[in-house]
Amino acid sequence: MTEFSTRRRSALEVFVCLCLVSLAYSFNIDLQHPVVFRGPDATFFGYSVLEHVHDNTRWIVVGAPRANSSFSSSVQSPGAVYKCRIRNNPEQRCTEMDLGRGQRESCGKTCQGDRNDEWMGVSLARQDKPNGKILACAHRWKNVYYESEYILPHGYCSVIPATLQGKSQPLIPCYEDHKKTYGEEHGSCQAGIAGVFTEELVIMGAPGSYYWTGTVKVFNMTSNTHYNLNQDNLSPRRYSYLGYAVTAGHFSSPNTIDVAAGAPQDSGVGKVSGFLQNLHHWFQMGSYFGSSLCAVDLNADGLSDLLVGAPMHSEIRDEGQVSVYLSSGNGVMEEVAILKGDNAYNAHFGECITSLGDIDEDGYQDVAIGAPKEDDYGGAVYIYHGDATVIVKKYSMRLSGRSINPTLQMFGQSISGNVDMDGNGYPALTLFAVACDRSRPVISVDISIFLPVSINITVPQCHEGPPHLNCFNVTVCMSFRGKHVPGHIELLYNLTADSDKRHKGLPPRVYFGNGGEQTVAVSQHFSLEINRQQCHQYTSFVRKEVKDVFAAIVFEAAYSLGKHFVDGHQDRDLPSLTPVLRWKKGEKIAAKNETWFEKNCLSEDCAADLSPWSSPGFMRNVSLNLTISNAGDDAYDTNIYFNFSREVHYINFLQREEKGISCMLVELDFLKCSIGFPFMRAQTKYHLSVLFDTSRLSGENETLLFLVHARSANPEHDSTLHDNTLELSIPLVHEVDTAITGVVSPTSFVYGNSVDRSRFVQLDDMECSFQPLNFTFQVINNGPSRLPGSTVDIRIPNRLAGNGADMFHIIDTQVSEGRGNCTRHRNPKPCTIPQDKESIFHTIFAFFTKSGRKVLDCDRPGRACLTISCSLSSQAKEEATSIDVRMLLNTEILQRDSSSVIQFVTRGHVQLDDRAVEVSTGLPEEISLVFEALHSQEPRGYVVGWIIAISLLVGILIFLLLAVLLWKMGFFRRHYREIIEAEKNRKDSDESWDWVQKSQ
Ligand SMILES: *[C@@H]1O[C@H](CO)[C@@H](O)[C@H](O)[C@H]1NC(C)=O
Repeated sequence: MTEFSTRRRSALEVFVCLCLVSLAYSFNIDLQHPVVFRGPDATFFGYSVLEHVHDNTRWIVVGAPRANSSFSSSVQSPGAVYKCRIRNNPEQRCTEMDLGRGQRESCGKTCQGDRNDEWMGVSLARQDKPNGKILACAHRWKNVYYESEYILPHGYCSVIPATLQGKSQPLIPCYEDHKKTYGEEHGSCQAGIAGVFTEELVIMGAPGSYYWTGTVKVFNMTSNTHYNLNQDNLSPRRYSYLGYAVTAGHFSSPNTIDVAAGAPQDSGVGKVSGFLQNLHHWFQMGSYFGSSLCAVDLNADGLSDLLVGAPMHSEIRDEGQVSVYLSSGNGVMEEVAILKGDNAYNAHFGECITSLGDIDEDGYQDVAIGAPKEDDYGGAVYIYHGDATVIVKKYSMRLSGRSINPTLQMFGQSISGNVDMDGNGYPALTLFAVACDRSRPVISVDISIFLPVSINITVPQCHEGPPHLNCFNVTVCMSFRGKHVPGHIELLYNLTADSDKRHKGLPPRVYFGNGGEQTVAVSQHFSLEINRQQCHQYTSFVRKEVKDVFAAIVFEAAYSLGKHFVDGHQDRDLPSLTPVLRWKKGEKIAAKNETWFEKNCLSEDCAADLSPWSSPGFMRNVSLNLTISNAGDDAYDTNIYFNFSREVHYINFLQREEKGISCMLVELDFLKCSIGFPFMRAQTKYHLSVLFDTSRLSGENETLLFLVHARSANPEHDSTLHDNTLELSIPLVHEVDTAITGVVSPTSFVYGNSVDRSRFVQLDDMECSFQPLNFTFQVINNGPSRLPGSTVDIRIPNRLAGNGADMFHIIDTQVSEGRGNCTRHRNPKPCTIPQDKESIFHTIFAFFTKSGRKVLDCDRPGRACLTISCSLSSQAKEEATSIDVRMLLNTEILQRDSSSVIQFVTRGHVQLDDRAVEVSTGLPEEISLVFEALHSQEPRGYVVGWIIAISLLVGILIFLLLAVLLWKMGFFRRHYREIIEAEKNRKDSDESWDWVQKSQ
């Protein structure tokens, strides 16, 4: 029968400690005063623990399943159950209980008990009623009636009287006469490995039944009968160990008791089954280990919720976890949380789960979960709190075994709670290897701050302290309530005046006059007996310069618990525990009260009716002249708020007569002027001028806006609110001096047939030769203001004649740093070649006449021009913006022109935005850029041929014409012979005179 000896243990020292701890906001387990009970070594003393109260005597009942029994000395290690008295037990001694059993007990017709190694004390349970009995079981108890043939490990339980004395009642639920088969049915059921004890029923897990399918045995104390819970509905799964853990609770309805049992080996992963009494069937939940169970109504709905431990649950190794199931009646269970403690290595978190009762007194049950192997077998216990949502998923407290005692082992293997162990009215918690604790008393503090209903500040009322001051009384009273708090308790408090203002970091308006010394907080304490009130009184003064007379004056008293003085005799064993303050999650331990300044109003609601109006004065500075009138009641804490641009700067304010106006620049763009203190009289007008410096306006905005708003702390009727706000808008104009400059490159170029085409730009699929031209214009703002925006128009003559083709093609326009953009006129046909409609003669004629100069200027009328318009964004003073224009000029069109030089005059002009005006100092706002296109003067080849041919022809024609002319004139028929003969005759008659003969 080693199946259930897996809970192997080394020799343990055992402690039962009463531990309480004061945790600031947790609750009340005292770890400072552990009460330690020790049992014999190597007996597993403390394997189970149970708190027990009978007749006002408080006990810890401790199981030691490996102990020798002093009442059955011949039996080998049957185990023992000890009782340890909590009070009047200075040596902390525990005594073994006599369960009234013999050496070899007779238990039925075919029953002979063998108590060797029976493990008495493996489980303990207490009957769920006042002065309840105790169940102690020994799951390894054997029936050896059939001698060595069949040893039947039935398991044995004792029902021990509440007095812990006298004969106990034996229960052997698995025994039946003449049954001798081991394994089948109940032969080896080992009942009592786990047990619960309701008012009427003893419920014992019997995991060995039916070849370790397991079952749950029930004994009805009233009818004295035994039965199985799952008699008719057997799980077919062997070795699932149903009954390894059992618990009972109200799962189906608040009035029935149902049983849930764990089958931790079911399908290898574990399962929990529940038996509903009224429905007589089992419900089942998902797969997990079910080696520990705890039914507890966490959310106070009358139905028991269920915590299921899976201590071997592993992510790395056996960290363990606990699943929390919310019960919604009729056995419907929904998993709502998984608890893991600190998820520590090999912690076995969930080995033990116990309801503690409501230890923090919040109306919800709380639970403790043991992780006995955490901290290398030191063990830990985690405290979790129930709440309206079932459970607070973060534990509130972790009790570490090592920190209680370094030699402690397996702390948290067994936990018992829900019994007030030291009579202080609070439930306590007993833990294995520790049985821990008494709870500290929880006290509730009542604190009151008494203040006058209101404070009149117009008439100084204070006769003590400095003159002309207002003062009033502040009284603090405290008392406390609780259960069983002897002696005196010190309660400390810290009273703060005008705490709301202080929390906001504002100066408080009232203070405590403490013997001439001014303080805003006082710290004092009361020493109180239970339910006795005490009070302290203070005088509080109103500061002179109070402005806010409308906000409540709040006094706050934060308190804490001081020392606890107990008079007279103290219990030697159990010293009175220091109380703790009741604490609610999220609450601050403080009390508040408030009072108000009195108002002097005619109308019931003390409504003011304010209206500012204004006229701005102008120059480099702006002066707002305001008149504020109050047409209603006295206006308290009246303020005029100015919201304005950060570009203007507040200089000063002027008041026409001294009326207690003061202005304060709250932020660079927000001015607050307080009008009249402490109030602005009804039916009055105040005049105020506020000066602003406007010299640093950026010019980004077209108007300068002032929002003026009047407000008093009084309520004001909705119907009169409209005139409380004034919006002043002043249009702004910017003075600038702009200039434009520019360059073009190249300033001249040559075109014509003789020019190498590579000097031009060719566009894809176009036969034209383009001349690239780059323009750069620069616009400079010479101030004095910022130029909010401008437009630059660039005009380029685009045609040679009015009806000609467009010559230019814009490739790109760019404004520096993206501070503007230009319109882009795309030339749809950049490469237009004019048709040669002229004859060759025309060409030749053109060649011969190409000698003139042509000027293309957009300023001349009738010119077709290309206009690029660029709008520029704002320019600060001395800032320049440049515009680059890259374009192509179609030289084919130029070539058709007769001029040999074409001059292009391009013009750029800056135009200011409407918001700016030009203050010209002679800098140009317009620029003209000139470039020239020069023809190469070389005609094309065929023209040259033609010219030569035509010249030859013309030459020949002229020669022939001349010849004919000469012939016609008779140039070729002259009388040379006669002339020659006459000459001869003249020579012959040289000797006569007759030769002077004239004609005949
Ligand atoms: C126990 O037996 C008595 C008498 O037969 C019966 O009235 C009672 O209902 C039984 N209790 C439970 C919880 O079954």
